[in-house]
Amino acid sequence: MRIVSAAVTGFRNLQDNSFDFSPRVNVVLGRNGMGKTNLFEALNFFALGRSHQGSKADEMVAFGADTLHVRLDVEEDTGPLIRCEFGLDRSGGRRLRVDGEPVSRRADLVGKLVTVFFNPDSIILVRGGPLHRRQFVDQGQAEIDPLYLASLSAFNRTLKQKSGLLRDMRKGLINRGQGQQELDAWNKELAAHSAVICAGRQDYAKLISPFAHNCHHELTENETPFLFAYQPNLKTAQNQLLLPPEQQFKKSELEAEILSEFDYIKGDEIQRGRPLLGPQLDDFEVRSDGLDLRVFGSQGETRTAAVSLILARGDVLFQRRKIRPVLFFDDIFSELDRHRSRQLQEMASRLHQVFIATARKDDVAGWNPDQLKVWQVSDGCFTNITLK
Ligand SMILES: Nc1ncnc2c1ncn2[C@@H]1O[C@H](COP(=O)(O)OP(=O)(O)OP(=O)(O)O)[C@@H](O)[C@H]1O
Ligand SMILES: [Mg+2]
Repeated sequence: MRIVSAAVTGFRNLQDNSFDFSPRVNVVLGRNGMGKTNLFEALNFFALGRSHQGSKADEMVAFGADTLHVRLDVEEDTGPLIRCEFGLDRSGGRRLRVDGEPVSRRADLVGKLVTVFFNPDSIILVRGGPLHRRQFVDQGQAEIDPLYLASLSAFNRTLKQKSGLLRDMRKGLINRGQGQQELDAWNKELAAHSAVICAGRQDYAKLISPFAHNCHHELTENETPFLFAYQPNLKTAQNQLLLPPEQQFKKSELEAEILSEFDYIKGDEIQRGRPLLGPQLDDFEVRSDGLDLRVFGSQGETRTAAVSLILARGDVLFQRRKIRPVLFFDDIFSELDRHRSRQLQEMASRLHQVFIATARKDDVAGWNPDQLKVWQVSDGCFTNITLK
């Protein structure tokens, strides 16, 4: 998949710019605060249906302007050119279009542009709390199984209802008999969604782990075993992990087992006024050479592990959907040694279109891949240059 060209108007400090990108390697050089991340945010917005930094529309619209507009022409390896556009107003208005047709649901965007983003924050995938690993897996699994996204949304909605009910029951705002009945209904629904989520997370961790091992191996150039493994909160899902493939629970069995776990803990949950079990508490192990990198990884090791996992997400996407995501590297080379940085640049650009932003020319100096395009950005204005 490639972004062929783009035109940006009224987006943060970016001047009205249009771009013809290289299908292989695009490098953006510029001092701090010049607009590199802003360009990447604009290019990625369509992939996520939101800012990758979680910014609100009125933060992205240029100071002094009322509206912004970004147009991308995107091409799959074998597909036609797709025109993706989005417009945002300071007042909150929002327009998304694919080939001129308005799109309202996020689900309709999925797959039109698929990107993978690396920035200095990517390290939280390994270093941060379990939420980041759950989000990573959920996003990856949703990319290969759209039904997973539906179950996940339904699960989150139901969990909210159950949490509200348990709070009300604890405060005595609801009659105990009626509360119990409602709780049983929510638990039944949650068990059904949890079964899909646990199975999906288990599958995804199994699928991505060998790809991540390969990326890690290539980046570090040593044979250290690298592992990404599901650590479910529910006993049922833990047991499932230990079963050989031919004895795995069927979905209905998984559901029934999970429901009995929820039933068992019900009394405690009512007493504490909050849900105590479920996939909202899942985690994933990240191990290199047997060492838990979540706790013991050095900066560089942790970053390498995060990069391996994120790159592996691209491999999974290709294996399952024949999609090669566009890769963005925003300022991530400063904490990798020179050799590892170059290795990563070579690996990434072998099969993907890549975008690299850096304030340090040294990060890319001496690198001369095919079809390299380089821009220098100054105060939001981009000019093509040749790298010496
Ligand atoms: N809505 C906006 N309108 C105008 N300018 C903005 C807006 N939002 C942010 N900016 C400005 O955009 C500038 C560039 O930001 P950006 O994050 O793209 O820089 P960068 O080139 O990535 O820098 P660094 O190397 O430090 O990461 C900042 O100086 C910021 O003040
Ligand atoms: Mg930046």
